[in-house]
Amino acid sequence: MNTKLIAVDPKNIDMNKIKQASEILRNGGLVAFPTETVYGLGADALNGEASRKIYEAKGRPSDNPLIIHIAEMNSLEFLVGEVNEDARILMEKFWPGPLTLIFKKTDRVPYSTTGGLETVAVRMPSHPVAIALIRDSGICIAAPSANTSGKPSPTKASHVLEDLNGRIDMVIDGGDVGIGLESTIVDMTGNVPVILRPGYVTREMMETVIGKVETDEQAKGASDDFRPRAPGMKYRHYAPKAELILVKGDAGHVSEKINELAKDEESQGKKVGIIATTEMERGYHYGTVITIGSRSDRETIARNLYSVLREFDNTDVETIYCEAIEGDNLGQAIMNRLKKASSNHIIQLDNDGEIEEQTW
Ligand code: TXA
Ligand code: MG
Repeated sequence: MNTKLIAVDPKNIDMNKIKQASEILRNGGLVAFPTETVYGLGADALNGEASRKIYEAKGRPSDNPLIIHIAEMNSLEFLVGEVNEDARILMEKFWPGPLTLIFKKTDRVPYSTTGGLETVAVRMPSHPVAIALIRDSGICIAAPSANTSGKPSPTKASHVLEDLNGRIDMVIDGGDVGIGLESTIVDMTGNVPVILRPGYVTREMMETVIGKVETDEQAKGASDDFRPRAPGMKYRHYAPKAELILVKGDAGHVSEKINELAKDEESQGKKVGIIATTEMERGYHYGTVITIGSRSDRETIARNLYSVLREFDNTDVETIYCEAIEGDNLGQAIMNRLKKASSNHIIQLDNDGEIEEQTW
């Protein structure tokens, strides 16, 4: 298949180009498009055959459900059963935006879109290109992140092509995305909303408008022992080709330890990469160092994370050391992705900067 690449300026949308993409979607084809979080790989959500193609193109396990993207509130009634008061408030406050809500599905939503589940995930993106595409096509668009399953999500059109060129009909290049991490996912089917995947919309932000919100243990990046409630979170994810190791502790100790480990590996003839914060970058004397952003600017770190991981895929490094990014809110979402990308390989330092514990 020949993958067509078209550029659409989000500030000045060329509807002729959007119409070409709409046509493909209406005919059951696959179009990758920008959203404010990451690029999505879209297909007609109510056409089971079309959404099956998404799984094939991504190499995605068929039990991993897709998120349905809508542009108008009245599309919701086709897709979901009961919408409770908390859900209404969350939608009012955070839609359009990086928040996905899970509801009981209606019969119209095929099981091939929900990975066999009775529930369905829905989100209204805020990216102007995504909104234009959904509106013009008149379709509810099922869209996972537009990467090969297991790889870091795409934050620019070139990432999509790296993974899916020749496997999908079209990529709409709308430039780099703004947020860089996937949406927050909240299960609204129980008494208390539960965060299944942390993201830009944080628990604190939601609690200020609806009161109590819980976080699924798995989403905190805790043990891998039990079945996560967002099926996708059980797979190895966001992973670079090299082995990624997170080093946690006081920032000064962390960079010292990374230097020591990197020096060691280089002396054994291995190629090492380091993901550094701006504050620490000059302290590294070994390996290939890529800076991800300032410790005090989580938004930049989130935006750069996946492209930094992909940059290392274009080098021959075998091990990547990364300073752990601690903290609440967006820091938690970043750590959740880093833990998954490293398969939980973490070196914890004690107060003296010595290795206290190592997990993986
Ligand atoms: O920001 C985003 O959410 C991006 C953009 C493209 O919108 N999409 C995205 O989709 O990240 P994907 O497929 O990469 O991740 C969807 C996650 C998976 O972990 C999946 O298991 C979970 O959502 N999910 C979808 N439907 C679900 C459901 N009914 N119940 C529980 N989890 C669900
Ligand atoms: Mg994904």
